Amino acid sequence: MTTLDAGEGDQAPAHGVGPWEGERPTDARYDPELLEHGDRRNVVDRYRYWRHEAIVADLDARRHPFHVAIENWQHDLNIGSVVRTANAFLAREVHIVGNRRWNRRGAMVTDRYQHIRHHPTVEDLAVWATEAGLPVIGIDNLPGAVPLETYALPRECVLVFGQESVGLSDAVREVAVATVAIGQYGSTRSINAGAAAAIAMHAWVRQHGDIAAGHLA
Ligand SMILES: C[S@@+](CC[C@H](N)C(=O)[O-])C[C@H]1O[C@@H](n2cnc3c(N)ncnc32)[C@H](O)[C@@H]1O
Repeated sequence: MTTLDAGEGDQAPAHGVGPWEGERPTDARYDPELLEHGDRRNVVDRYRYWRHEAIVADLDARRHPFHVAIENWQHDLNIGSVVRTANAFLAREVHIVGNRRWNRRGAMVTDRYQHIRHHPTVEDLAVWATEAGLPVIGIDNLPGAVPLETYALPRECVLVFGQESVGLSDAVREVAVATVAIGQYGSTRSINAGAAAAIAMHAWVRQHGDIAAGHLA
């Protein structure tokens, strides 16, 4: 495959590949259009030239059993970043709690590959989690929170993040089996919610993930 310069594709900015060279594969996962014209999407090499549906199906077969949820009462700009990280760490689903609309910019089109569910209220999220048999874990450095660094995250769980100005709502704290804090050492009261989400998801990966599988191309 010919590597292209960074440019504006349907998932730009991304490095892409040119038209398929040589005999074309006949596997149904390959997209004839992409084979013909090249693939400029921001996908890992193993998915180059694959149909979108084939990529999602392959991800679905491998998704991790943790979910992430983020409160969205004031259109938090971190949500896109949370979705992108959830895609990278292969969370089963992302849950948006509060406003349905969220700013997709930071997601860099990863939302197309992610299952995203909306819950109008925290209660709706809690009902869904109970029915799914999933404990809710609040992530925030609030009084009484336990250190993430030593907390045994359940393999199947929902990690819930608060939003930038107000943090985790009381409603989430009430339904959470634990509130977990990331240790800090500087002067700021908190880190960015998107950064906190990445750290928490990676903590799950360190405890439950297949480390070798995460380093395959
Ligand atoms: C910017 S924080 C705001 C609230 C924060 N409790 C405060 O006192 O400023 C927004 C969200 O980021 C996450 N967050 C930020 N710093 C964190 C930390 N040290 N530990 C756990 N979560 C954190 C939490 O989900 C939090 O609700």
